[in-house]
Amino acid sequence: MDTPAVEMKAVRKSFGKVEVLRGVDFDLRRGEVHALLGGNGAGKSTLMKILGGVHRPDGGTVTVGGVPADFRSPAAASAAGIGMVFQEFSLVPTLTVAQNVFLGREPRRFGLIDDTALNRRTAEILHRMGTRLDPRAPVGELPVGHWQLTEIAKALSLDATVLIMDEPTARLSHSEIGPLFDLVRRLTGQGVSVVYISHRMAEIAQIADRMSVLREGQRVLSGGVTEIPPEQVAEAIVGREIHGGLGRRTCAVRPGTRPVLSVRNLRAGSRVAGVSFDVAPGEILGVAGLIGSGRTELTRCLFGIDRIEAGEIQLGGKPYRPRGPAEAIRAGMLLVPEDRQLEGLVLDHAVYDNALLPSLSRIRRGPFLGDRRGAAVCQSLISSLGIRGATRTTPVRHLSGGNQQKVVLAKWLALKENGLVPKVLVLDEPTAGIDIGAKTEILRLTAELAAEGTAVVIVSSELEELLAVADRVVVLRSGAVHADLARDDIEDEESLQLVIQGA
Ligand SMILES: Nc1ncnc2c1ncn2[C@@H]1O[C@H](COP(=O)(O)OP(=O)(O)OP(=O)(O)O)[C@@H](O)[C@H]1O
Ligand SMILES: [Mg+2]
Repeated sequence: MDTPAVEMKAVRKSFGKVEVLRGVDFDLRRGEVHALLGGNGAGKSTLMKILGGVHRPDGGTVTVGGVPADFRSPAAASAAGIGMVFQEFSLVPTLTVAQNVFLGREPRRFGLIDDTALNRRTAEILHRMGTRLDPRAPVGELPVGHWQLTEIAKALSLDATVLIMDEPTARLSHSEIGPLFDLVRRLTGQGVSVVYISHRMAEIAQIADRMSVLREGQRVLSGGVTEIPPEQVAEAIVGREIHGGLGRRTCAVRPGTRPVLSVRNLRAGSRVAGVSFDVAPGEILGVAGLIGSGRTELTRCLFGIDRIEAGEIQLGGKPYRPRGPAEAIRAGMLLVPEDRQLEGLVLDHAVYDNALLPSLSRIRRGPFLGDRRGAAVCQSLISSLGIRGATRTTPVRHLSGGNQQKVVLAKWLALKENGLVPKVLVLDEPTAGIDIGAKTEILRLTAELAAEGTAVVIVSSELEELLAVADRVVVLRSGAVHADLARDDIEDEESLQLVIQGA
């Protein structure tokens, strides 16, 4: 047998009193794609951060290419050929794609940064990845999906022999995933070994050779992807029996109901170029489209973050043109943004403060302030969404990626618990990075809000989810509505995919 590319044995790690990894074995063969699965907070990122030199283990051993490894820094791991695409972005928004890719390692000429070489080498990597991303584009001006591509390019530029991808597709849309998988296959063909973390089960069958499932810091299942039935994998992740898929919701809107939100010829920036649609109270409108089609920018306009340049919006029968989020919230519009770390959370504050923040600012003298009721609401959200590792007082920074996202969603669900039902709730990729156990719960709570009369606009790259929850789907292309389809007129995911790609 070949020496494995990586072998981790009985690895243990605690944060404070909490034991997050409880003796985990993990091995990675040369040239394989090994999927690492598990619910939010199971310990996936922590295990890989040990391999990547970010954390040091409390116990156990790690070997890379047969050589014992005790990395004291990410730089040490990277020198040993370990490349890592983090779940959280580590890019500098004001720098260009190329400057980010080679940050701290810029090619130089006569002591000065050689911009020509910098851009050329980045262009080569991006070309190998099958994307047409511009190396000179400032990252901050790109849609979030392109940040992910930049992260991958950065890891590849380090000539890694082991590539750890922590939820690389959580923010990519369907058509960007194909080229990424081609790239992964090309790399494994060259002997690169890949650890692939994802919550999207369909991807695992497509890309991975073997898989391991972590649950509560222990490996509970491991083997060849084709050898283990999907139900068994799902049960290993969740830790109990589960039934069926997402299931389809039945529409709650009576025909002829007047729209609560009407958007006409909305224009803003370079990506929203004449969008029109209506949403009725109680209706769930899905928004589909490729990266760059203007989905996120549309949500930002609706919430008053981006300036609206032309067009008209009516909200609840009144003209609506928010000059900022505060105005949007006052008018009854809420947004759960795509980039939750940047826009949705105060990382150093406790779960309680984050989850109840919007409620607190809305109910000045309500029964909420610092009382038992607020605590109870917070506790019930922690348990219904399965926010692992959290009590009310845990700083959000200490939660796993997926659990942080659950806190953002909890913010809006807490409003409803207090009888504050927004007119319109806009969700941008609400379940990206969320485990299969909580996904169903989030969609159920969304449908519940709709049943109480909220109009929901939900942007998602996961078509299965859109089809399960939406009454209608608008497909955006180049900043305009390309198709506006009733759910009943969409046969299946594939046919929707064809509309999105414009085939
Ligand atoms: N720096 C830290 N301080 C305290 N606790 C931490 C820290 N980092 C992680 N944890 C805890 O360790 C546990 C495992 O986190 P980890 O990020 O490894 O989960 P994960 O499997 O990657 O989850 P996700 O799917 O949500 O990304 C969580 O309960 C988390 O709260
Ligand atoms: Mg993680």
